[in-house]
Amino acid sequence: MIHMSNLMMRYKTGKVALSGINMDIPQGSFVYLIGESGAGKSTLMKMMYGGIRPTSGQLEVQGTKVRDASEHQIRELRQRTGIIFQGNRLLNSRTIFENVALPLRVQGWDAERLLPRVKKVLSFVGLEDRLWSYPETLSGGEQQRVAIARAMLSNPSLILADEPTGNLDDDTARHVLDLLMALNKLGTTIIMATHDLHLLTSHPGLVVQLRQGALVTGQQHEKV
Ligand SMILES: Nc1ncnc2c1ncn2[C@@H]1O[C@H](COP(=O)(O)OP(=O)(O)OP(=O)(O)O)[C@@H](O)[C@H]1O
Ligand SMILES: [Mg+2]
Repeated sequence: MIHMSNLMMRYKTGKVALSGINMDIPQGSFVYLIGESGAGKSTLMKMMYGGIRPTSGQLEVQGTKVRDASEHQIRELRQRTGIIFQGNRLLNSRTIFENVALPLRVQGWDAERLLPRVKKVLSFVGLEDRLWSYPETLSGGEQQRVAIARAMLSNPSLILADEPTGNLDDDTARHVLDLLMALNKLGTTIIMATHDLHLLTSHPGLVVQLRQGALVTGQQHEKV
């Protein structure tokens, strides 16, 4: 599913955010990406959907070589990837329906075709009755569940979730994690950046730790 060899990312500022990353992530994994603030978690996640490209080394995601891929190939990669951003980013002026529908709207789906699909993913996260609500009328946990529904809309084989439980209380965070685990059981590979290590006790997964842009080795990190 994901292959990295000697992966390096240097931002235009000169900051080396990642270096010497070697790792393989098999299909169907549930991976927790951990590490202190600034360790490079979001940088690695952005690279995995082609939002930024590696400076050197190799990153292959779902068969796409991210460094050398054409714009067209990156667009295709994104269509096969569900993304939950750090700080959820719902559009406040749009209904829940429109927010969830967005990834397929940009692919040209019309409302008639979208409605049953959006209803289906919203019912998966238990929010089908909020179809015509606006984001600001939902709690933080509900908004995060909407973000999950949106990420699963096009039935991606990979979901990248950057701090999906940030700012949520423990019970709500567990509920959000239950949903991601349920998707994983259905075969979706999940990679989740998190600071909430205590969630691992109730929701075990493979742990990949970054420190100052490098993998912390010594555990089962190289082959997860
Ligand atoms: N666009 C950018 N330009 C320059 N430097 C950046 C950019 N984005 C991130 N960085 C730097 O790269 C390093 C890694 O940042 P990144 O956002 O990947 O960390 P993180 O592990 O996600 O942290 P957090 O837990 O706070 O979200 C940091 O030192 C950060 O300042
Ligand atoms: Mg981050």
